[in-house]
Amino acid sequence: MSEPSDPKRGQSLWQGRFGDAPAEELLDFTESLSFDRRLAADDLAGSRAHVDMLARVGLITEEERAVVAAALARVEAEIDAGTFTFLPLDEDIHTAVERRVTELAGPAGAKLHTGRSRNDQVALDLRLYVRREGRVMAGRLCDLMQVLLRRAAEAHAADVYLPGYTHMQRAQPVMLAHHLLAHFWALSRDVDRLADALDRADVSPLGAGALAGSTLPLDPGSVAADLGFARPFENSLDAVSDRDFVAELLFVCALCQVHLSRLGEEVVLWATEEFGFLKLADAYSTGSSMLPQKKNPDIAELVRGKAGRLIGHLTGFLATLKGLPLSYNRDLQEDKEPLFDTLDTLALAGTAMAGLLDTATFDYERMRAAADTPSSAAADLAEDLVRGGMPFREAHALIGKLVRESVERGIPLDELIMTEPKLGPDALAALEPGASVRRRTSPGGAGTASVAAQMEAARARLADQEGRLAKGA
Ligand code: ARG
Repeated sequence: MSEPSDPKRGQSLWQGRFGDAPAEELLDFTESLSFDRRLAADDLAGSRAHVDMLARVGLITEEERAVVAAALARVEAEIDAGTFTFLPLDEDIHTAVERRVTELAGPAGAKLHTGRSRNDQVALDLRLYVRREGRVMAGRLCDLMQVLLRRAAEAHAADVYLPGYTHMQRAQPVMLAHHLLAHFWALSRDVDRLADALDRADVSPLGAGALAGSTLPLDPGSVAADLGFARPFENSLDAVSDRDFVAELLFVCALCQVHLSRLGEEVVLWATEEFGFLKLADAYSTGSSMLPQKKNPDIAELVRGKAGRLIGHLTGFLATLKGLPLSYNRDLQEDKEPLFDTLDTLALAGTAMAGLLDTATFDYERMRAAADTPSSAAADLAEDLVRGGMPFREAHALIGKLVRESVERGIPLDELIMTEPKLGPDALAALEPGASVRRRTSPGGAGTASVAAQMEAARARLADQEGRLAKGA
């Protein structure tokens, strides 16, 4: 006797083999419908391609194909309209869609799953999802890069420089545009990494069946082409158990969130009264429930904080994969929640950060004043001596001695420079406001002219990345 069917509860997919219906606790624990509903559109696209293939190879008739296609269209309309009724035994989106198609299409609907397993089906759905959402994510990152580029161009036109830091100690002045573009390049590599990961994910697993293919004359190559994949799978065991594309996406997104967290940390620092380099727009700041004077950079802090969460999703999922035997194991169902949450989190973080940067006000005068200190030109003074033929070590020691004397005796560095015969009055030009960045002309450096060239390179890079995205490449 097979499992009793209850129209209100639905029926499990394995009802032929089992005498009893699944326990409530089993369903509560094993279901994935609560989170894989968002694969509905991909599941329908995959099913459409599958029935088309079944008709092409003669496993169903053209009439049956048309009936199933119409049922799939109806299911799509119901899901879009929010009128689709999920039943308690619909354990995942694949089960729900197939159950409804069978209700609507009768015996033809019961042929939908021919030569297919949920194992190749879920792998396909997730790849379709990743392909679509990965591109959306790349577009969002490009938008953020666009904001950085705009703010950099604006700062460069205003000739703004600020201290550059190493070890959080003032080191050498840099153009503000240079600093902003440093974050731009990191994001640009993230967009490249994303495109690269999507390339590798561009494989259709449909036709692998449960794990070993089929005795039926399936045609995985034509399904792959139909769905716009670059290629079909080579190995059915690999096709149903490969989740590298999820792990790669989790890594790319975690690294990107780490990049955003570094930018976020600088926003937090720059917005302090101590730095005072940046004022956040009211719309992108929060207040304090107790301290009326506070204006807090919560967005930047959360962007920083959520990096921990994304790193957790990556390491957690790698731990899920570790030691899994071939081929499909239910553990793999654990791929979706970290993936969805990662994409949701990074999307919000990127958009919030773009808004924050777009509306923040940089305090140009404060930045310049912080950089226009005599000691910030120490390296330039040593380089002047090098130009005169002095070995660099010797020049470094000589300027170092002047700085120490200035600190110990409380005499301004520019006064001491006047008394140093090897430097002389010409050296004072190096201490003029802004001289340090104007004189730093080496390619890729933080100086005015180099940054202008860099800005052009950044514009070209972004146009190229946006162009490739638009072409779907
Ligand atoms: N919900 C499952 C998942 O997300 C679908 C595949 C289940 N396959 C199976 N043979 N139990 O992985």
